[in-house]
Order: sequence, then C-alpha cells, then structure tokens
Amino acid sequence: MSVTAISTPNIALIKYWGNRNNDLRLPMADSLSITLDKPSAEVTVEAAEVFSIQTFDEQGKERPLPEKEQVRWRHQFELAKNYLAKLDLQEGLPPNIHVIVRSHVPPRIGLASSAAVFSASAEAYAGLAGQQGRKLTRKEISVIARFGAGSAARSILGGFVAIDAGTGLEIDAAHARQIADEKHWKLFNIVIIPSQEEKKVGSTEGHALAHTSPLFKKRVAAIPKRQKECIDAILKKDFEKLQYVSEEDAFDMHAVMRSQTPSLDYLSGETHRILSEISDLRKKEHLEVLYTMDAGPTVHLICTEAALPRIRAYAKEQKGYTIFEAGVGGGSQVISKGAG
Ligand code: DP6
Repeated sequence: MSVTAISTPNIALIKYWGNRNNDLRLPMADSLSITLDKPSAEVTVEAAEVFSIQTFDEQGKERPLPEKEQVRWRHQFELAKNYLAKLDLQEGLPPNIHVIVRSHVPPRIGLASSAAVFSASAEAYAGLAGQQGRKLTRKEISVIARFGAGSAARSILGGFVAIDAGTGLEIDAAHARQIADEKHWKLFNIVIIPSQEEKKVGSTEGHALAHTSPLFKKRVAAIPKRQKECIDAILKKDFEKLQYVSEEDAFDMHAVMRSQTPSLDYLSGETHRILSEISDLRKKEHLEVLYTMDAGPTVHLICTEAALPRIRAYAKEQKGYTIFEAGVGGGSQVISKGAG
C-alpha cells in the first residue's frame, strides 16, 4: 500500500522563532500564517524493509539528501510512530518505509520547502495509518507535521492558520488550528528574492539559540496579544491592522535573531531598500500591501487584489531578481493511494 500526499508552503505573519523543546519542536510561542496555493511538494510513502528516502527536484532529477536531512526525516517518522502509539494506533505505521519526495519548490527562493514537504509527509503517514484504524483529525496530522518542521504544522490546513503553542512537554502539546479558510480573504504573496545564496545558518540551528538573545523573553511575552490582534484583523479583514501587527512582529523576530549568539542577520541592503520603497509607494498610492521576511533576505509582499497589479509591476521592475507569486491555498491532502 502506498500513499501520495501534496502540500504547499505557508508565509507567517506572526513568526515562529524558538522552541521550549528542540527535539519535539515544541514552540515557545504561538504563530500564525497564510497557507499558499503554490509551489507544491509531493510525498509518497510505502512500507519497506529498511527506512530509505529518495528526493527529486523540479526537473525530476534525483537529488541525494545530505545525511543530516535523512536523520531529520527518520526522526519525524519515529516520532510519528510514538505519537500514533499514544493515540492507541500502534499498528498505524509499518516499522519502516520508503519515502519519495518530489518538490516543485524552487530552491533558495525564500519559501520554506521544509513546510511543504514535512506537511505532505505527515499527510501521507496519516493516509497509511487511516488504512489500519481510524482517520486522523487535522489537528493530529498537524502534530506529525510539526515533528519534521515547526512551520509545517500550519500547512496542514488551508487559509489562515494558527499554531497554539500550548504548555508542557507532551508530544501533542502544540498543534495547528484554522482561523479562516482559503475563501475568506483574497490575498496574494508577491515574493521578491534578492539573493540566491545558500543561507549560512538554517532555522533549526537558529531556533535552538533564540534563548541567547536578551530580547527573546520580551518577544515571547508580547506574542499572545499580537496573535490575538492578528486573528482579529484577519476575521474583520482589517488590512491596516494586519499590516501593523505583522510588520511589528517580523521586525521583532529579526531583532531577536540579530541579538542572538552568534548573531543572525538575515536581511540584506537590498531587503532594506525594497522595504523603504514599498513604504513610500503604499503611502503615495494608498496601497494595501504589507511586507514580511523569514530567515533570509527575501521580501514577501502580501497584498489585496486591488493592490496586486501595482505590486506586480513594482516586482517586475526589480531587474535580475527572482519573482514568485502565490495566492491563498487549501492546505495538504492525499492525492492517491495505490497497492504496493
Ligand atoms: C523564520 O519551521 O523552518 O520561517 O522546525 O527547524 O524546520 P524548523 O524551523 P522552521 O521555522 C520557520 C521560521 C520562520 C518563521 C515562521 O515560518 O514562522
């Protein structure tokens, strides 16, 4: 029996940064994102004698996974089995599996392929487990996604999705929750990628050192209020409020990153130039557009349909940069089941 699932990245408005348990990827605070409708990643899983994984890029070319990444995949699978045992679904997953990953997420575009692939794998594991026992809930599948990448938990659901950090160290203490579905608000993400360089320190290492920042405690204490405001802005479709709270949170996360030991300064001169030009442009032309940045110099411009043509045109003017566009997506799903 094989199961194939598909998923997409998401873009966070209230950022996830720092864990209370790194092994289980239990976050220190809540986060909130928009699930994107593209690019996608597909994951196929089936029972096997030994754990193995094959990954293919956009062109269908096989890309061997570095050892460290293979360990991460195996870790997600082992934690998924532990979690299913806790749910009384011991037989849910076979002892070992073969995994095939087909990613259509262009490398280094500042859209987390890890969120897409680890949500797709969680969905595929749930598909296998569903054959043996009961169907898992979206919340349970989001817990499995979290074992692979914290942000992947959010891609299990469509539209506007929160992660409730919860408390304590139980394996399922943190999970995703849908705030509004993908039809709620027609927003777009225009992604401007100034640099194609591989980032030196990835999110996983960064999360583990967030506590070394003197600003981290204050950030964690500020998030519940910000999360609430962000949810409120989404439910009321109040773009001005959404802009204010998202940008405040993005800058706050980057201040934490910069003041960590060692310091992580992901934003470049180009990032700052784009931010300043967008600030001027939206003031002058009254455009509903906000910016946000993750662990890299890439700028995500989230805008309404009315602002889209102007933001698209601005992005096009950025000669030599890679541009990517996405809408709001529906989250991960199983696309096929086969004998095998
Ligand atoms: C800055 O989910 O990529 O994009 O669990 O170590 O894979 P790992 O981290 P990841 O962290 C994402 C961090 C962020 C902010 C966000 O997406 O919320």
